[in-house]
Amino acid sequence: MASLTGKSALVTGGSRGIGAAIVQRLAKEGARVAFTYSASSEQANRLVEQIAKDGGEAIGIKADAADQAAVREAVQQAANHFDKIDILVNNAGIIVLGPITDIKEEDFQRILAINVHSVFTATQEAVRHMPDGGRIIHIGSVNSDRMPFAGGSVYALTKGAIFSFTKGLARDLGPRNITVNNIQPGPVDTDANPANGPFAETMLGLMALKRYGKGEEIAGLVTYLAGPEAGYITGAGILIDGGFDA
Ligand SMILES: NC(=O)c1ccc[n+]([C@@H]2O[C@H](COP(=O)([O-])OP(=O)(O)OC[C@H]3O[C@@H](n4cnc5c(N)ncnc54)[C@H](OP(=O)(O)O)[C@@H]3O)[C@@H](O)[C@H]2O)c1
Repeated sequence: MASLTGKSALVTGGSRGIGAAIVQRLAKEGARVAFTYSASSEQANRLVEQIAKDGGEAIGIKADAADQAAVREAVQQAANHFDKIDILVNNAGIIVLGPITDIKEEDFQRILAINVHSVFTATQEAVRHMPDGGRIIHIGSVNSDRMPFAGGSVYALTKGAIFSFTKGLARDLGPRNITVNNIQPGPVDTDANPANGPFAETMLGLMALKRYGKGEEIAGLVTYLAGPEAGYITGAGILIDGGFDA
Protein backbone atom coordinates (compact mmCIF):
# COMPACT_ATOMS: atom_id res chain seq x y z
CA MET A 1 0.00 0.00 0.00
CA ALA A 2 1.30 3.49 -0.84
CA SER A 3 2.38 5.53 2.19
CA LEU A 4 -0.42 8.14 2.00
CA THR A 5 -3.40 5.98 1.07
CA GLY A 6 -6.55 7.33 2.74
CA LYS A 7 -5.08 10.82 3.21
CA SER A 8 -6.23 13.99 1.52
CA ALA A 9 -3.99 16.93 0.78
CA LEU A 10 -4.19 20.54 -0.34
CA VAL A 11 -1.21 22.12 -2.10
CA THR A 12 -1.31 25.86 -2.83
CA GLY A 13 0.24 26.93 -6.14
CA GLY A 14 0.24 23.40 -7.50
CA SER A 15 -0.13 23.81 -11.26
CA ARG A 16 3.53 24.35 -12.13
CA GLY A 17 7.04 24.15 -10.68
CA ILE A 18 7.73 22.76 -7.23
CA GLY A 19 4.00 22.67 -6.40
CA ALA A 20 3.18 20.48 -9.40
CA ALA A 21 5.95 18.04 -8.47
CA ILE A 22 4.50 17.87 -4.94
CA VAL A 23 0.96 17.27 -6.25
CA GLN A 24 2.19 14.46 -8.52
CA ARG A 25 4.20 12.76 -5.80
CA LEU A 26 1.50 12.96 -3.13
CA ALA A 27 -0.98 11.48 -5.61
CA LYS A 28 1.49 8.72 -6.48
CA GLU A 29 1.74 7.92 -2.76
CA GLY A 30 -2.01 7.37 -2.68
CA ALA A 31 -3.27 10.72 -1.35
CA ARG A 32 -6.27 12.49 -2.90
CA VAL A 33 -4.92 15.92 -3.79
CA ALA A 34 -6.47 19.36 -4.30
CA PHE A 35 -4.32 22.20 -5.51
CA THR A 36 -4.76 25.90 -6.21
CA TYR A 37 -3.43 28.14 -8.96
CA SER A 38 -4.21 31.67 -10.11
CA ALA A 39 -3.75 31.78 -13.88
CA SER A 40 -2.32 28.61 -15.45
CA SER A 41 -5.60 26.77 -16.10
CA GLU A 42 -4.14 24.77 -18.99
CA GLN A 43 -1.29 23.35 -16.91
CA ALA A 44 -3.72 22.70 -14.04
CA ASN A 45 -6.10 20.73 -16.29
CA ARG A 46 -3.22 18.75 -17.80
CA LEU A 47 -1.95 17.85 -14.34
CA VAL A 48 -5.39 16.65 -13.19
CA GLU A 49 -5.74 14.53 -16.36
CA GLN A 50 -2.25 13.05 -16.03
CA ILE A 51 -2.86 12.05 -12.42
CA ALA A 52 -6.22 10.46 -13.33
CA LYS A 53 -4.51 8.55 -16.15
CA ASP A 54 -1.96 7.25 -13.62
CA GLY A 55 -4.78 6.03 -11.40
CA GLY A 56 -4.72 8.88 -8.87
CA GLU A 57 -7.16 11.64 -7.95
CA ALA A 58 -6.57 15.40 -8.07
CA ILE A 59 -8.67 18.53 -8.40
CA GLY A 60 -7.47 22.00 -9.41
CA ILE A 61 -9.08 25.06 -7.82
CA LYS A 62 -8.59 28.53 -9.28
CA ALA A 63 -7.88 30.80 -6.30
CA ASP A 64 -5.53 33.76 -6.26
CA ALA A 65 -3.40 33.65 -3.12
CA ALA A 66 -3.48 37.44 -3.04
CA ASP A 67 -7.25 37.25 -2.42
CA GLN A 68 -7.78 36.00 1.13
CA ALA A 69 -11.50 35.29 0.64
CA ALA A 70 -10.64 33.13 -2.39
CA VAL A 71 -8.00 31.24 -0.38
CA ARG A 72 -10.48 30.54 2.42
CA GLU A 73 -13.09 29.34 -0.08
CA ALA A 74 -10.53 27.09 -1.81
CA VAL A 75 -9.69 25.41 1.50
CA GLN A 76 -13.40 24.92 2.22
CA GLN A 77 -13.95 23.51 -1.28
CA ALA A 78 -11.12 21.00 -0.83
CA ALA A 79 -12.39 20.05 2.64
CA ASN A 80 -15.94 19.56 1.36
CA HIS A 81 -14.71 17.49 -1.58
CA PHE A 82 -12.58 15.15 0.56
CA ASP A 83 -14.43 15.52 3.92
CA LYS A 84 -11.11 16.49 5.56
CA ILE A 85 -7.65 17.85 4.91
CA ASP A 86 -4.90 15.72 6.42
CA ILE A 87 -1.99 17.48 4.74
CA LEU A 88 -1.63 21.17 3.90
CA VAL A 89 1.33 22.28 1.79
CA ASN A 90 1.69 26.07 1.65
CA ASN A 91 3.74 26.37 -1.52
CA ALA A 92 2.34 29.32 -3.55
CA GLY A 93 4.86 32.12 -3.60
CA ILE A 94 6.32 34.85 -5.74
CA ILE A 95 9.66 36.62 -5.88
CA VAL A 96 10.02 40.38 -5.78
CA LEU A 97 13.60 41.59 -6.11
CA GLY A 98 15.17 45.03 -6.06
CA PRO A 99 17.05 47.49 -3.88
CA ILE A 100 15.01 48.69 -0.90
CA THR A 101 14.85 52.20 -2.35
CA ASP A 102 13.09 50.89 -5.50
CA ILE A 103 10.50 48.49 -4.06
CA LYS A 104 7.03 49.84 -4.84
CA GLU A 105 4.40 49.82 -2.11
CA GLU A 106 1.99 47.75 -4.26
CA ASP A 107 4.67 45.13 -4.95
CA PHE A 108 5.46 44.94 -1.23
CA GLN A 109 1.76 44.49 -0.40
CA ARG A 110 1.39 41.83 -3.10
CA ILE A 111 4.31 39.68 -1.95
CA LEU A 112 3.14 39.95 1.66
CA ALA A 113 -0.39 38.92 0.62
CA ILE A 114 0.79 35.85 -1.34
CA ASN A 115 3.87 34.69 0.58
CA VAL A 116 2.68 35.47 4.13
CA HIS A 117 -0.99 36.42 4.51
CA SER A 118 -2.28 33.51 2.40
CA VAL A 119 -0.20 31.07 4.46
CA PHE A 120 -1.97 32.34 7.58
CA THR A 121 -5.40 32.18 5.89
CA ALA A 122 -4.98 28.71 4.38
CA THR A 123 -3.59 27.35 7.63
CA GLN A 124 -6.29 28.87 9.84
CA GLU A 125 -9.03 27.47 7.62
CA ALA A 126 -7.35 24.09 7.02
CA VAL A 127 -6.85 23.28 10.72
CA ARG A 128 -10.64 23.54 11.15
CA HIS A 129 -10.92 20.55 8.78
CA MET A 130 -7.75 18.70 9.84
CA PRO A 131 -7.95 15.56 11.95
CA ASP A 132 -5.50 15.04 14.82
CA GLY A 133 -2.17 13.82 13.46
CA GLY A 134 -2.32 16.09 10.41
CA ARG A 135 0.63 17.72 8.70
CA ILE A 136 1.33 21.32 7.74
CA ILE A 137 4.34 21.92 5.50
CA HIS A 138 5.48 25.35 4.38
CA ILE A 139 7.73 25.85 1.37
CA GLY A 140 10.03 28.53 2.74
CA SER A 141 13.50 29.24 1.41
CA VAL A 142 17.17 29.03 2.31
CA ASN A 143 16.94 32.82 1.94
CA SER A 144 15.41 33.10 5.40
CA ASP A 145 18.81 31.90 6.69
CA ARG A 146 21.12 33.35 4.10
CA MET A 147 20.62 36.13 1.55
CA PRO A 148 24.08 36.44 0.04
CA PHE A 149 23.37 39.19 -2.48
CA ALA A 150 21.66 42.58 -2.54
CA GLY A 151 18.08 43.02 -3.74
CA GLY A 152 16.46 40.15 -1.85
CA SER A 153 15.48 41.85 1.40
CA VAL A 154 11.72 41.73 0.89
CA TYR A 155 11.67 38.13 -0.37
CA ALA A 156 13.83 37.12 2.63
CA LEU A 157 11.44 38.99 4.94
CA THR A 158 8.49 36.90 3.72
CA LYS A 159 10.35 33.61 4.04
CA GLY A 160 11.63 34.58 7.50
CA ALA A 161 8.05 35.32 8.53
CA ILE A 162 6.77 31.86 7.62
CA PHE A 163 9.73 30.22 9.35
CA SER A 164 8.81 32.04 12.58
CA PHE A 165 5.15 31.21 12.00
CA THR A 166 6.17 27.52 11.74
CA LYS A 167 7.60 27.57 15.25
CA GLY A 168 4.65 29.29 16.93
CA LEU A 169 2.17 27.12 15.06
CA ALA A 170 3.97 23.92 16.08
CA ARG A 171 3.31 24.92 19.70
CA ASP A 172 -0.36 25.72 19.03
CA LEU A 173 -1.04 22.44 17.23
CA GLY A 174 1.24 20.04 19.13
CA PRO A 175 -1.58 19.02 21.51
CA ARG A 176 -3.49 17.76 18.43
CA ASN A 177 -0.42 15.87 17.16
CA ILE A 178 -0.40 18.08 14.08
CA THR A 179 3.16 18.72 12.95
CA VAL A 180 4.28 21.95 11.29
CA ASN A 181 7.54 22.22 9.38
CA ASN A 182 9.29 24.64 7.05
CA ILE A 183 11.13 23.23 4.02
CA GLN A 184 13.90 25.59 2.90
CA PRO A 185 14.94 24.94 -0.70
CA GLY A 186 17.95 26.44 -2.37
CA PRO A 187 17.83 27.09 -6.13
CA VAL A 188 15.33 24.75 -7.82
CA ASP A 189 14.88 24.67 -11.59
CA THR A 190 11.42 26.20 -12.27
CA ASP A 191 9.89 29.01 -14.31
CA ALA A 192 10.53 31.33 -11.35
CA ASN A 193 14.24 30.43 -11.16
CA PRO A 194 15.39 28.59 -14.29
CA ALA A 195 18.66 26.67 -14.15
CA ASN A 196 19.71 28.48 -17.35
CA GLY A 197 18.50 31.91 -16.15
CA PRO A 198 20.42 35.10 -15.46
CA PHE A 199 21.04 34.23 -11.76
CA ALA A 200 22.31 30.71 -12.36
CA GLU A 201 26.03 31.44 -12.44
CA THR A 202 25.91 33.46 -9.22
CA MET A 203 23.82 30.77 -7.50
CA LEU A 204 26.11 27.92 -8.51
CA GLY A 205 29.13 29.87 -7.28
CA LEU A 206 27.57 29.90 -3.79
CA MET A 207 26.76 26.19 -3.61
CA ALA A 208 28.59 23.04 -2.49
CA LEU A 209 26.79 20.99 -5.17
CA LYS A 210 27.17 22.68 -8.53
CA ARG A 211 23.65 22.11 -9.78
CA TYR A 212 20.08 23.31 -9.31
CA GLY A 213 17.65 21.14 -7.39
CA LYS A 214 14.64 19.46 -8.98
CA GLY A 215 11.01 19.85 -7.95
CA GLU A 216 10.92 16.08 -7.46
CA GLU A 217 13.62 16.36 -4.77
CA ILE A 218 11.54 18.87 -2.82
CA ALA A 219 8.48 16.66 -3.34
CA GLY A 220 10.37 13.71 -1.84
CA LEU A 221 11.00 15.66 1.35
CA VAL A 222 7.37 16.81 1.49
CA THR A 223 6.26 13.18 1.17
CA TYR A 224 8.55 12.13 4.00
CA LEU A 225 7.29 14.92 6.29
CA ALA A 226 3.69 14.06 5.36
CA GLY A 227 4.18 10.38 6.11
CA PRO A 228 4.04 8.22 9.22
CA GLU A 229 7.81 8.11 9.80
CA ALA A 230 8.06 11.88 10.38
CA GLY A 231 5.59 12.12 13.26
CA TYR A 232 8.24 13.36 15.73
CA ILE A 233 9.47 16.25 13.56
CA THR A 234 7.78 19.57 14.27
CA GLY A 235 8.73 23.23 14.41
CA ALA A 236 11.73 22.46 12.20
CA GLY A 237 13.33 24.31 9.34
CA ILE A 238 14.81 21.76 6.95
CA LEU A 239 17.34 22.88 4.36
CA ILE A 240 17.37 21.18 0.96
CA ASP A 241 19.69 23.53 -0.82
CA GLY A 242 22.69 21.80 -2.43
CA GLY A 243 24.87 23.31 0.28
CA PHE A 244 23.88 26.94 -0.42
CA ASP A 245 23.91 27.50 3.35
CA ALA A 246 26.90 25.24 4.10
N1 LIG B 1 12.49 27.82 -7.48
C1 LIG B 1 13.32 28.11 -6.50
O1 LIG B 1 14.54 28.26 -6.68
C2 LIG B 1 12.81 28.25 -5.09
C3 LIG B 1 13.74 28.26 -4.05
C4 LIG B 1 13.29 28.39 -2.74
C5 LIG B 1 11.94 28.50 -2.49
N2 LIG B 1 11.06 28.49 -3.52
C6 LIG B 1 9.63 28.63 -3.17
O2 LIG B 1 8.92 27.54 -3.73
C7 LIG B 1 7.58 27.95 -4.02
C8 LIG B 1 7.25 27.56 -5.47
O3 LIG B 1 8.17 28.21 -6.32
P1 LIG B 1 8.38 27.80 -7.84
O4 LIG B 1 9.80 28.09 -8.16
O5 LIG B 1 7.82 26.45 -8.08
O6 LIG B 1 7.48 28.92 -8.56
P2 LIG B 1 6.79 28.90 -10.01
O7 LIG B 1 7.54 28.04 -10.93
O8 LIG B 1 6.59 30.34 -10.34
O9 LIG B 1 5.37 28.23 -9.72
C9 LIG B 1 4.51 28.86 -8.81
C10 LIG B 1 3.21 28.10 -8.65
O10 LIG B 1 2.39 28.86 -7.74
C11 LIG B 1 1.24 29.34 -8.43
N3 LIG B 1 1.00 30.71 -8.04
C12 LIG B 1 1.76 31.80 -8.27
N4 LIG B 1 1.14 32.91 -7.81
C13 LIG B 1 -0.03 32.48 -7.30
C14 LIG B 1 -1.12 33.13 -6.70
N5 LIG B 1 -1.15 34.46 -6.56
N6 LIG B 1 -2.17 32.39 -6.29
C15 LIG B 1 -2.19 31.04 -6.45
N7 LIG B 1 -1.19 30.37 -7.02
C16 LIG B 1 -0.12 31.08 -7.43
C17 LIG B 1 1.58 29.23 -9.93
O11 LIG B 1 0.42 29.04 -10.72
P3 LIG B 1 -0.28 30.29 -11.48
O12 LIG B 1 0.75 30.90 -12.34
O13 LIG B 1 -1.44 29.72 -12.18
O14 LIG B 1 -0.73 31.18 -10.37
C18 LIG B 1 2.44 27.96 -9.93
O15 LIG B 1 1.63 26.83 -9.89
C19 LIG B 1 7.52 29.45 -3.74
O16 LIG B 1 6.97 29.66 -2.45
C20 LIG B 1 8.97 29.86 -3.77
O17 LIG B 1 9.21 31.01 -2.98
C21 LIG B 1 11.45 28.37 -4.82
